[in-house]
Amino acid sequence: MSHTPAASVTPDYDIQVVRQFAIMTVVWGIVGMLVGVIIAAQLAWPALNFDIPWLTYSRLRPLHTNAVIFAFGGSGLFAASYYIVQRTCQTALFAPKLASFTFWGWQLVILLAAITLPLGYTSAKEYAELEWPIDLLITVVWVSYAIVFFGTIMKRQTSHIYVANWFFGAYILTIAVLHVVNSAELPVSMWKSYSAYPGAMDAMIQWWYGHNAVGFFLTAGFLGMMYYFVPIQAGRPVYSYRLSIVHFWALIAVYMWAGPHHLHYSALPDWTQSLGMVFSLILLAPSWGGMINGMLTLSGAWHKLRSDPIIRFLIVSLSFYGMSTFEGPMMSIKTVNALSHNTDWTIGHVHSGALGWVAMVTIGSLYVLIPRLWNRKAMYSTKLIYTHFWLSTIGVVFYIASMWIAGVMQGLMWRAVNADGSLTYTFVEALSATHPYYIGRLAGGVIFFSGMLVMAYNVAMTIRCPEPRDLPEE
Ligand code: HEM
Ligand code: HEM
Repeated sequence: MSHTPAASVTPDYDIQVVRQFAIMTVVWGIVGMLVGVIIAAQLAWPALNFDIPWLTYSRLRPLHTNAVIFAFGGSGLFAASYYIVQRTCQTALFAPKLASFTFWGWQLVILLAAITLPLGYTSAKEYAELEWPIDLLITVVWVSYAIVFFGTIMKRQTSHIYVANWFFGAYILTIAVLHVVNSAELPVSMWKSYSAYPGAMDAMIQWWYGHNAVGFFLTAGFLGMMYYFVPIQAGRPVYSYRLSIVHFWALIAVYMWAGPHHLHYSALPDWTQSLGMVFSLILLAPSWGGMINGMLTLSGAWHKLRSDPIIRFLIVSLSFYGMSTFEGPMMSIKTVNALSHNTDWTIGHVHSGALGWVAMVTIGSLYVLIPRLWNRKAMYSTKLIYTHFWLSTIGVVFYIASMWIAGVMQGLMWRAVNADGSLTYTFVEALSATHPYYIGRLAGGVIFFSGMLVMAYNVAMTIRCPEPRDLPEE
């Protein structure tokens, strides 16, 4: 493991592994979103399945979710956590060779996913589709990650553990527990296993996993990123450190109980559904506490929103975080869920969180991180960051607006009944009414995706050219 010196980082920090994960975040972002664009096109024009089994929507959809969540999001989280834990603990990584192993191990997991999912090997559990040999590899990599991260915390040179590390620590520990419990399975061949849990219990554990994957992978980890990069880029301390601690404990205490909102009106005992709904409603408070804390960090420096496109990425991502964590509790109310469940409203909610929050906070953080990792004054082109910002924002808005309209329309059409009690619309009528919105979503996806290509060019040029082309205006 090299200890590459860089001006903005103390010479003995382990930067190589952070660089590797940062580059792969951009690469997997492009791959994962490209697959997203392809499946969005397939939903609009099913002929694009081409009758080729490994190109069908059913196999490419889990490829998309795995690529964007675990390859793109995961690499971003590895990069950010390894960088931040070193900077805030004022020490190099514990066990740098093990850190390097987590990089290669994680890339191997992604490669195996990219091969096995199109071939149709799947455990059929959403966001946990990978078969048992890959599950074992994930466990080894994740335990190594925990050793590196917590080992670094143990050997810190500071007395205090900065709040971002609390969020990373909770995400690493919780994902380990979720993965091990939810993936308990009985292998029957090299690439086939069956869940260890029966019926409704399997569904319950799956959505305890699924919801906490949202809470700890797609939220807590990225909040760790936010609590470091927003203050750094704003040049100001976190608005309220006390609130960040309350935010942390409240969020991790409440998230665990909300999973049953994915299983309303199912075979799950009724009281568990109500419990899930109540905890989801409570979850609004800590989520908004965190969002407000992030946003108000800009107090007294709001003018930076005018001149710094990176701050725009970070603050807009927080707005989307606020939006999706308002929408989620509303959708968890059983009567609202009766309308939204199984419709594209859910897909709109997912992507206001996934594109608006997760992708935009990652992109903003990478724009702060990359010049520091390669010892550059700034990114190669600030204008291209502006371009990327607008492509992302317009892309998300197109995507989620199309899905909201489509979703509410589907929900209303499915439940409409005539005076004699028969259904007013057939399913196919609702489907054909959705078609224009699928094209709208595809357009949003293509726009967002093109922003990622702009980013790749800017990152490559930043690494190749030491001098920025256009420094930010003050
Ligand atoms: C160019 C960007 C993207 C496009 C065009 C896109 C497109 C899609 C499409 C078409 C689906 C299937 C929807 C359906 O089943 O009806 C989907 C599902 C999903 N996408 Fe994306 N996506 C993009 C980016 C992302 C990102 C960055 C993330 C996460 C960080 C993400 C997370 C997900 C998840 C979790 C689902 C499954 C949702 C569910 O089961 O309810 N997507 N995406
Ligand atoms: C307070 C916070 C949140 C609450 C209470 C919440 C609640 C919900 C509810 C009720 C559903 C619909 C379940 C269904 O009808 O099937 C849902 C789906 C989903 N949400 Fe959230 N949400 C929250 C925040 C977020 C955020 C920030 C993200 C992403 C970063 C996210 C990602 C997802 C995903 C991926 C699904 C689809 C799961 C699936 O069916 O595959 N949620 N959420």
